[in-house]
Amino acid sequence: MNIAILGAGTIGSTLGRAWVRAGHTVTFGVRTVENPEVQALVQELGGIASVAPVAGAIASGQVVLFAIPGQAMEATIAAHAAALAGKVVIDAANRIGAATMHSFAAFTTHVPTAQVFRAFSSLGWENFARPRFGDIQADLFFCGPDGTARAQVEILISDVGLRPVWVGGPEQASLIDALTSLWFTLALGQKRGRHLAFKLLTDDV
Ligand SMILES: NC(=O)c1ccc[n+]([C@@H]2O[C@H](COP(=O)([O-])OP(=O)(O)OC[C@H]3O[C@@H](n4cnc5c(N)ncnc54)[C@H](OP(=O)(O)O)[C@@H]3O)[C@@H](O)[C@H]2O)c1
Repeated sequence: MNIAILGAGTIGSTLGRAWVRAGHTVTFGVRTVENPEVQALVQELGGIASVAPVAGAIASGQVVLFAIPGQAMEATIAAHAAALAGKVVIDAANRIGAATMHSFAAFTTHVPTAQVFRAFSSLGWENFARPRFGDIQADLFFCGPDGTARAQVEILISDVGLRPVWVGGPEQASLIDALTSLWFTLALGQKRGRHLAFKLLTDDV
């Protein structure tokens, strides 16, 4: 898949590395293409990753991952609404301190045709870099519209090494964010450590 990753910081670089390893083509969309850290990341990933201004990255992506600060989401979505129309979008950004951590309302307002998923938002990046705990594969709970786009997002979750668990449609975004709050409480509040993830157990798994 051609994946646009907006933001090449901790989350963008961690997921970009995993997806390049899995054979996907990644374009990082950033504000400053000349940023030495981003250039070094692209060098590290060989010819399979590139860096472009945000608009160029969105244009090249079948799937667009938002890995930028939550406070920048509304303005970025509004500025690139036309380019995002009809795209499969993954909102990994957390609007820390706001009433709602996800940005689904901004997508609905500015890009109602985008197929928006809430994924990669509920665990610290360490769990995307190391998705196994001994023999146990961590799960990633996510939500978004059912259908072809969901299958694409499941592939991208699996290619990071996590097991995708679909919780339901976009209306479940706040439930995914409740898991984020649980992660913060356990990993940071109780100081259990950031390599901490969740597992769904059922009889048929
Ligand atoms: N870190 C985690 O463990 C984790 C886990 C799950 C979800 N998240 C969420 O993922 C998002 C990114 O987190 P991170 O830890 O990767 O942060 P980070 O390391 O600070 O990276 C943020 C990236 O966003 C870019 N950026 C900053 N302000 C921007 C703006 N106004 N418009 C466009 N791009 C902008 C930065 O590039 P510049 O060089 O241009 O500033 C940088 O590439 C956040 O919303 C966070 O809540 C983080």
